[in-house]
Amino acid sequence: MRKIRIGVLGSGSGSNLQALLDAIRSDLLQAEIVLVLSDVADARILQRAKDAGIPAEWIDCFGNKNRFPEAVQQHVADRLVDAGVDLVCLAGFMRLIKSPILQRFSERIINIHPSLLPHFPGLEAWKQALDAGVTETGCTVHFVDEGMDTGTVILQAKVPIHSDDDSLSLHQRIQQQEHLIYPQAVRLVAARLGFAV
Ligand code: GAR
Repeated sequence: MRKIRIGVLGSGSGSNLQALLDAIRSDLLQAEIVLVLSDVADARILQRAKDAGIPAEWIDCFGNKNRFPEAVQQHVADRLVDAGVDLVCLAGFMRLIKSPILQRFSERIINIHPSLLPHFPGLEAWKQALDAGVTETGCTVHFVDEGMDTGTVILQAKVPIHSDDDSLSLHQRIQQQEHLIYPQAVRLVAARLGFAV
Protein backbone atom coordinates (compact mmCIF):
# COMPACT_ATOMS: atom_id res chain seq x y z
CA MET A 1 0.00 0.00 0.00
CA ARG A 2 1.32 3.42 -0.85
CA LYS A 3 1.01 6.70 1.05
CA ILE A 4 -1.75 9.10 0.07
CA ARG A 5 -0.60 12.12 -1.98
CA ILE A 6 -2.11 15.39 -0.80
CA GLY A 7 -2.58 18.76 -2.49
CA VAL A 8 -3.32 21.70 -0.18
CA LEU A 9 -5.18 24.89 -1.11
CA GLY A 10 -5.03 27.84 1.29
CA SER A 11 -5.31 31.60 1.42
CA GLY A 12 -3.72 32.49 4.75
CA SER A 13 -1.15 31.69 7.37
CA GLY A 14 -1.05 27.95 6.72
CA SER A 15 -1.07 26.78 10.33
CA ASN A 16 -3.22 23.82 9.29
CA LEU A 17 -0.74 22.95 6.53
CA GLN A 18 1.94 23.09 9.24
CA ALA A 19 -0.11 20.75 11.46
CA LEU A 20 -0.32 18.22 8.61
CA LEU A 21 3.43 18.52 7.96
CA ASP A 22 4.20 18.08 11.67
CA ALA A 23 1.95 15.01 11.89
CA ILE A 24 3.72 13.49 8.88
CA ARG A 25 7.15 14.30 10.32
CA SER A 26 6.29 12.68 13.63
CA ASP A 27 4.84 9.59 11.94
CA LEU A 28 1.30 10.22 13.17
CA LEU A 29 0.20 10.42 9.54
CA GLN A 30 1.36 8.41 6.56
CA ALA A 31 1.05 10.92 3.72
CA GLU A 32 2.99 13.07 1.32
CA ILE A 33 2.11 16.69 0.59
CA VAL A 34 3.04 17.10 -3.05
CA LEU A 35 1.67 20.54 -3.99
CA VAL A 36 0.49 23.69 -2.21
CA LEU A 37 -1.56 26.32 -4.06
CA SER A 38 -2.72 29.72 -2.86
CA ASP A 39 -4.87 32.43 -4.40
CA VAL A 40 -2.95 35.02 -2.31
CA ALA A 41 0.49 35.72 -3.76
CA ASP A 42 2.15 36.63 -0.45
CA ALA A 43 0.26 34.19 1.80
CA ARG A 44 2.41 32.64 4.50
CA ILE A 45 1.16 29.20 3.49
CA LEU A 46 3.29 29.41 0.32
CA GLN A 47 6.41 30.24 2.33
CA ARG A 48 5.73 27.41 4.77
CA ALA A 49 5.46 25.00 1.83
CA LYS A 50 8.70 26.25 0.27
CA ASP A 51 10.46 25.95 3.64
CA ALA A 52 9.37 22.31 3.71
CA GLY A 53 10.63 21.74 0.15
CA ILE A 54 7.15 21.38 -1.32
CA PRO A 55 6.26 22.88 -4.71
CA ALA A 56 4.18 26.00 -3.99
CA GLU A 57 2.35 28.05 -6.60
CA TRP A 58 0.20 31.16 -6.69
CA ILE A 59 -3.19 30.79 -8.37
CA ASP A 60 -3.81 33.94 -10.41
CA CYS A 61 -7.55 34.75 -10.23
CA PHE A 62 -7.09 37.73 -12.56
CA GLY A 63 -8.28 40.43 -10.19
CA ASN A 64 -11.44 38.59 -9.07
CA LYS A 65 -11.63 39.31 -5.34
CA ASN A 66 -13.93 36.48 -4.26
CA ARG A 67 -14.93 34.62 -7.41
CA PHE A 68 -13.00 31.53 -8.46
CA PRO A 69 -13.40 31.68 -12.25
CA GLU A 70 -14.16 28.38 -14.01
CA ALA A 71 -11.10 28.60 -16.26
CA VAL A 72 -8.89 29.08 -13.21
CA GLN A 73 -10.55 26.10 -11.48
CA GLN A 74 -9.83 24.04 -14.59
CA HIS A 75 -6.18 25.06 -14.37
CA VAL A 76 -6.06 24.19 -10.66
CA ALA A 77 -7.65 20.79 -11.33
CA ASP A 78 -5.03 20.15 -14.03
CA ARG A 79 -2.17 21.12 -11.69
CA LEU A 80 -3.50 18.78 -8.99
CA VAL A 81 -3.87 15.92 -11.48
CA ASP A 82 -0.38 16.55 -12.91
CA ALA A 83 1.05 16.40 -9.38
CA GLY A 84 -0.58 12.99 -8.84
CA VAL A 85 -2.80 14.22 -6.00
CA ASP A 86 -5.14 11.66 -4.40
CA LEU A 87 -6.77 13.98 -1.84
CA VAL A 88 -7.29 17.75 -1.85
CA CYS A 89 -7.17 19.44 1.57
CA LEU A 90 -8.60 22.93 1.85
CA ALA A 91 -6.85 24.78 4.67
CA GLY A 92 -8.26 28.28 5.04
CA PHE A 93 -9.04 28.52 1.32
CA MET A 94 -11.54 31.34 0.90
CA ARG A 95 -13.10 30.66 -2.51
CA LEU A 96 -15.95 28.32 -3.36
CA ILE A 97 -14.90 25.14 -5.19
CA LYS A 98 -17.05 24.32 -8.21
CA SER A 99 -17.46 21.63 -10.82
CA PRO A 100 -14.07 21.58 -12.60
CA ILE A 101 -12.31 20.60 -9.36
CA LEU A 102 -15.28 18.79 -7.76
CA GLN A 103 -15.69 16.51 -10.77
CA ARG A 104 -12.01 15.64 -11.01
CA PHE A 105 -11.75 14.96 -7.27
CA SER A 106 -15.20 13.64 -6.45
CA GLU A 107 -15.38 12.58 -2.76
CA ARG A 108 -11.70 13.48 -2.49
CA ILE A 109 -11.82 17.09 -1.29
CA ILE A 110 -12.00 17.90 2.42
CA ASN A 111 -12.12 21.18 4.34
CA ILE A 112 -11.53 22.42 7.88
CA HIS A 113 -14.07 24.92 9.18
CA PRO A 114 -13.96 26.82 12.51
CA SER A 115 -17.41 25.91 13.88
CA LEU A 116 -19.52 22.89 14.72
CA LEU A 117 -21.25 22.61 11.35
CA PRO A 118 -24.08 22.92 10.42
CA HIS A 119 -23.86 25.92 12.78
CA PHE A 120 -22.13 29.07 11.54
CA PRO A 121 -21.08 28.28 7.97
CA GLY A 122 -19.32 31.01 6.01
CA LEU A 123 -16.84 33.67 7.01
CA GLU A 124 -15.38 34.26 10.50
CA ALA A 125 -17.42 31.52 12.10
CA TRP A 126 -15.85 32.17 15.52
CA LYS A 127 -17.23 35.74 15.44
CA GLN A 128 -20.63 34.42 14.44
CA ALA A 129 -20.54 32.13 17.50
CA LEU A 130 -19.58 35.02 19.81
CA ASP A 131 -22.31 37.24 18.35
CA ALA A 132 -24.89 34.46 18.78
CA GLY A 133 -24.03 34.21 22.50
CA VAL A 134 -23.60 30.41 22.47
CA THR A 135 -21.45 28.78 25.16
CA GLU A 136 -19.80 26.22 22.91
CA THR A 137 -18.43 26.10 19.41
CA GLY A 138 -15.63 24.11 17.77
CA CYS A 139 -14.32 22.97 14.43
CA THR A 140 -15.29 20.51 11.73
CA VAL A 141 -13.52 18.56 9.00
CA HIS A 142 -15.98 17.71 6.23
CA PHE A 143 -16.16 16.57 2.63
CA VAL A 144 -16.62 19.41 0.16
CA ASP A 145 -19.69 19.55 -2.05
CA GLU A 146 -21.31 22.29 -4.17
CA GLY A 147 -22.57 24.19 -1.12
CA MET A 148 -20.81 26.44 1.33
CA ASP A 149 -19.60 24.31 4.26
CA THR A 150 -22.37 21.76 3.69
CA GLY A 151 -20.68 18.39 2.93
CA THR A 152 -20.67 15.25 5.06
CA VAL A 153 -18.92 15.67 8.41
CA ILE A 154 -15.81 13.54 9.03
CA LEU A 155 -14.67 14.76 12.48
CA GLN A 156 -15.55 17.53 14.93
CA ALA A 157 -14.03 18.91 18.12
CA LYS A 158 -15.83 21.06 20.67
CA VAL A 159 -14.42 24.28 22.16
CA PRO A 160 -16.07 25.99 25.16
CA ILE A 161 -16.61 29.75 24.91
CA HIS A 162 -15.40 31.62 28.00
CA SER A 163 -17.10 34.78 29.25
CA ASP A 164 -13.91 36.81 28.66
CA ASP A 165 -13.27 35.44 25.14
CA ASP A 166 -12.77 37.86 22.28
CA SER A 167 -12.50 36.89 18.67
CA LEU A 168 -8.74 36.44 18.81
CA SER A 169 -8.67 34.23 21.92
CA LEU A 170 -11.57 32.11 20.69
CA HIS A 171 -10.14 31.63 17.20
CA GLN A 172 -6.76 30.66 18.70
CA ARG A 173 -8.37 27.98 20.89
CA ILE A 174 -10.40 26.68 17.95
CA GLN A 175 -7.22 26.50 15.87
CA GLN A 176 -5.50 24.38 18.53
CA GLN A 177 -8.28 21.82 18.02
CA GLU A 178 -8.14 22.19 14.24
CA HIS A 179 -4.46 21.24 14.31
CA LEU A 180 -5.35 18.03 16.18
CA ILE A 181 -8.36 16.89 14.16
CA TYR A 182 -7.20 17.73 10.63
CA PRO A 183 -4.41 15.11 10.58
CA GLN A 184 -6.76 12.60 12.26
CA ALA A 185 -9.42 13.24 9.62
CA VAL A 186 -6.92 12.83 6.78
CA ARG A 187 -5.89 9.52 8.34
CA LEU A 188 -9.53 8.35 8.42
CA VAL A 189 -10.10 9.33 4.80
CA ALA A 190 -6.82 7.75 3.66
CA ALA A 191 -7.81 4.49 5.37
CA ARG A 192 -11.25 4.56 3.73
CA LEU A 193 -9.65 5.10 0.32
CA GLY A 194 -7.29 2.16 0.85
CA PHE A 195 -4.00 4.01 1.37
CA ALA A 196 -1.37 3.18 3.97
CA VAL A 197 -2.10 4.69 7.40
C1 GAR B 1 -8.74 28.21 9.90
O1 GAR B 1 -9.19 28.62 11.17
C2 GAR B 1 -9.86 27.56 9.12
O2 GAR B 1 -10.75 26.86 9.92
C3 GAR B 1 -10.53 28.77 8.50
O3 GAR B 1 -9.45 29.59 8.12
C4 GAR B 1 -8.38 29.42 9.04
C5 GAR B 1 -7.10 29.20 8.26
O4 GAR B 1 -6.01 29.19 9.10
N1 GAR B 1 -11.32 28.37 7.38
C6 GAR B 1 -12.50 28.88 7.10
O5 GAR B 1 -13.02 29.77 7.74
C7 GAR B 1 -13.18 28.26 5.88
N2 GAR B 1 -14.55 28.58 5.84
P1 GAR B 1 -4.59 28.67 8.61
O6 GAR B 1 -4.27 29.40 7.30
O7 GAR B 1 -3.65 29.10 9.70
O8 GAR B 1 -4.66 27.18 8.44
